Amino acid sequence: MLSLSTQAIQAEAVSPVVLAACGLGMTYRTGKFGDVVALTGVNFDIRHGELVSLVGPSGCGKSTLLRLMSGLITSSEGSLLLGGEQVRGPGPKVAVVFQAPILLPWRTILQNVLLPVEFREWPLQDYRERAFELLDTVGLADFANSYPHELSGGMQQRAGIVRALIQDPQILLMDEPFGALDAMTRERMNLDVLRIWEKSRKTIVFVTHSITESIFLSNRVFVMTSRPGKIADIIDVDLPFPRSLDLINTPVFGDYVGRVRACLQVSGDLS
Ligand SMILES: Nc1ncnc2c1ncn2[C@@H]1O[C@H](COP(=O)(O)OP(=O)(O)O)[C@@H](O)[C@H]1O
Ligand SMILES: [Mg+2]
Repeated sequence: MLSLSTQAIQAEAVSPVVLAACGLGMTYRTGKFGDVVALTGVNFDIRHGELVSLVGPSGCGKSTLLRLMSGLITSSEGSLLLGGEQVRGPGPKVAVVFQAPILLPWRTILQNVLLPVEFREWPLQDYRERAFELLDTVGLADFANSYPHELSGGMQQRAGIVRALIQDPQILLMDEPFGALDAMTRERMNLDVLRIWEKSRKTIVFVTHSITESIFLSNRVFVMTSRPGKIADIIDVDLPFPRSLDLINTPVFGDYVGRVRACLQVSGDLS
């Protein structure tokens, strides 16, 4: 029998490319402060159902790359294709989860989760069942009628993830979503991300500055370096799914940590 990782790799080989970057670059023009080259020469293909992490030091352009993928900003060089078409602005195919979930305090968790549906004027009744299913996946089924202040930070972030998934995006982008959480909550949230991915097989791009998190949560790690920001290496993570936290203590996991670290050291980002 094939291991899940082998199956996943075989599936990837035939899955369509959902996001393709070619010579992608971003220079912020800041007027009196001059130009800031945030990203340059970025090339990649991301296939449907992949779990990709972007890891690198602060300021290397991770959020810029994610914002380009979401259509929130437009590149200054090169191309970025979503499903074969140039990304021209935000749309329902891509959802983003940021570090702070920003839930509306006067709405219940269910009402917050259904906000994108209301915003798009889709029929609410068609999405209620899906909202409960998703809340159940992240252990929040009993909190649908609670208000944000009644939930812990981790639970609020889970609600934010469910809100992103309610519109059934093709791609889920996550920008350091657990950066503000304590270490133990963060580990539980990592398991949630893997569970969501295993259930939905959505394409997920996860930004982090934690090397461990980047390996644990992906089948490919894009290692980014700064001055100017670029992808210095792409590392295939051939570790089986489902994954448990014990994996982090294995020698093979340590080898991957060493490879990412070495790449950052060569570029001077870790020295
Ligand atoms: N709106 C902006 N205007 C000008 N410079 C920016 C802007 N956003 C980011 N930058 C600069 O671009 C570089 C990359 O930033 P960012 O993508 O936020 O990095 P990261 O997410 O890896 O910390 C940094 O030097 C940052 O100061
Ligand atoms: Mg950032």
